[in-house]
Amino acid sequence: MDKVLVTRRVPQAGLDLLEGLAQVVVSPHDRFLSVQELLEMSAGCRAVLSQVADRIGREFLSARPEVRMVANYAVGYDNFDLEAARELGVMLSNTPEVLTAATADLTLALMLDIMRRVSEGDRLLRAGGFKGWAPDFMLGTSLAGKTLGILGLGRVGQAVAERARCFGMSIIYHKRTRDPEAEAGLGARLVSFAELLAGSDVISINAPLTGQTRGIFNYQAFERMKPGAYLINTGRGPIVNEADLARALKEGLIRGAGLDVFEDEPKVHPDLLGLDNVVLCPHLGSATGEVREMMAIRAAGNLAAFLRGQEPPDRLV
Ligand code: GLV
Repeated sequence: MDKVLVTRRVPQAGLDLLEGLAQVVVSPHDRFLSVQELLEMSAGCRAVLSQVADRIGREFLSARPEVRMVANYAVGYDNFDLEAARELGVMLSNTPEVLTAATADLTLALMLDIMRRVSEGDRLLRAGGFKGWAPDFMLGTSLAGKTLGILGLGRVGQAVAERARCFGMSIIYHKRTRDPEAEAGLGARLVSFAELLAGSDVISINAPLTGQTRGIFNYQAFERMKPGAYLINTGRGPIVNEADLARALKEGLIRGAGLDVFEDEPKVHPDLLGLDNVVLCPHLGSATGEVREMMAIRAAGNLAAFLRGQEPPDRLV
């Protein structure tokens, strides 16, 4: 029977789908594997159910030619080298759709939190700083009437736009290719990156991490944003230069930020930790019990299809 490595335990409902199809080996560690551990544990495996922290690059795929399919337990797949997999004839898949709503919800949660100063108010109250209601006490910014600029208007970006419209926001977006259908449905307008920076009251990063997006939110970008603007990132950490963001927040170039992802997780740039105008969330975009179970079913479903000789529904290459 084929052997499948699961690099970190996922909900059983997913693993159940592999019963009878493969001998499933689940990593005994409740943490991400080191490169060496991944190599050792995948020996003799025909497929791997991977985590975002597992680097599935040319090196791994060349060292483990018996691995013919890798199913990521995530929608993002910047840990995959698609080119290498294509060349080496290895199939890859991800888990789209099932986490769209949850990630969009968390994006709005961060937007509401930073703009209405929820976490900051909580800290202040616990420290004894609440002396009673006052007309000018802890004033934030209304979402209604503001322009939300979305970087990337894929599934999550569109779900963010839908929600933001319910809060009275108008939508602009920046993406490599125009999406007329989404534009019609969301009343969204395609703009250049420069226009996104200059024209948004809030920017939400919902793009994948690629060579083009890595580090594009740097100090120069913050200088071009509106002075009272906010930045929300539920995409991938390295799209934002954290040191530059901390400096921009300190200098008042922008008013606030809400981050769910970081450049070098689980580390957070120390300059951000001391700031009150940033909400820091420990990568919880897809973190609901329901969604994590659906992700396990989706990832394992892709593996099950492969093991049966069928096309994995979420095949990337
Ligand atoms: C999580 O960050 C994912 O890409 O699913």
